[in-house]
Amino acid sequence: MHDFHYRHETLYCEDIPLERLDKEQGTPCYIYSHATLIRHFRAFDRAFASVPHLVAFAMKANSNLAVLRLMASQGGGADIVSGGELFRARRAGIPPDRIVFAGVGKSRREIRDALDAGILFFNVESSAELHTLNDVASDMGAQARVALRINPDIDPRTHPYISTGLKHSKFGIGAEHAVETFTRAAALPCIRVVGVHAHIGSQLTHLDPFVESLTKVAALIETLKSRGLPIRYLNIGGGLGITYSNETPPDPTAFADAITPLLRQTGCDIIMEPGRVITGNAGILLTRVLYLKETGAKKFVIVDAGMNDLLRPALYDAHHDILPVRRSPHAPDDTVDVVGPVCESGDFFARRRTMPAVNAGDLLAVMSAGAYGFTMASNYNARPRVPEVLVKGGDSFVIRERETFDDLIRGEHIPDFLEARA
Ligand code: LLP
Repeated sequence: MHDFHYRHETLYCEDIPLERLDKEQGTPCYIYSHATLIRHFRAFDRAFASVPHLVAFAMKANSNLAVLRLMASQGGGADIVSGGELFRARRAGIPPDRIVFAGVGKSRREIRDALDAGILFFNVESSAELHTLNDVASDMGAQARVALRINPDIDPRTHPYISTGLKHSKFGIGAEHAVETFTRAAALPCIRVVGVHAHIGSQLTHLDPFVESLTKVAALIETLKSRGLPIRYLNIGGGLGITYSNETPPDPTAFADAITPLLRQTGCDIIMEPGRVITGNAGILLTRVLYLKETGAKKFVIVDAGMNDLLRPALYDAHHDILPVRRSPHAPDDTVDVVGPVCESGDFFARRRTMPAVNAGDLLAVMSAGAYGFTMASNYNARPRVPEVLVKGGDSFVIRERETFDDLIRGEHIPDFLEARA
């Protein structure tokens, strides 16, 4: 599943003890395994070998340039959601014809930049966006290729914050308006409708919602084709879940086996946008215990990473396993809250977690942090963002440096009228 394992009671990433990375980089620090990233990408890609397809990695999960370059080297593209992600994808060397652009709020500037770059297509989320796209393309004397994102009204049975394909969600165009919207889109002079897109949510651990959604989408494609609307691409989005604790999501092969018949039936080229399943278990957040604190009501393990570094527990009450970097077979269990230094009660990594007792100074690995970890980090509490390190066998590479205090104030100015008077 991943390449973080114990040797002689010490946690390694591939062939490097995490203690060595701590000596070199300090804590907190994100660490990714090259072998895991490659294996996960290839497993996903190979599972769909029997249909023409492109794996457009959902870079919101992990947008480090080195990670993106690795995806590109494996034939991958990018699912982007902003001008900033377009910039990163291009800087990482992802060819524009492997980039698709989703999101309900694309600005004119973002649309212009993406048209200029020559991306594969836009995943359009509303009629209003379609008109803006037509307008911008017309100004540029260009044609915009679009896939319309359908909201199939399917319950993905995941956390409500990461469900996107239910009727009340802000994403996509209601299935009942689909045919009408496609017909109107096709009539716009600078729009070329080339595909259908559906992404119903993230961290899905069951196959049925995918199958239900694709059954609806395949029927829609059938109808569109019968009305003379050529649909070349079907973009199935992302969403396949991973094991954080005891979930048992289908692996990419089971996922592919379940949906390939439906994909084939459409006769389309398939675009897929996996994020978490590629990078989630390929990364950890290394942190150090600063203090132990007992209040009478509770025991706290206070670590040097905070919610600004890894937001998922605070935002979704998400579970991440926490492992000691040096394991002792004799350590007694303790029930603790693992919390960070940020001034918020939501700044926790685990609550009422039973785990081997730790001491101040110990290193801990917060597992499964390779997706939506660093990308959701902030500078809250004026905390510099932490470094990212890529491990390949016995070598390690700093793929993002630790921010400095100067980075924190870059671009800020004190207007003259506030200058201190002598
Ligand atoms: N495609 C679209 C259009 C998406 O909106 C997303 C994720 C993906 C693909 C990739 O989904 P994945 O394969 O990674 O599940 N911050 C949350 C996850 C938000 C997902 C947003 N969209 C978390 O930490 O769980």
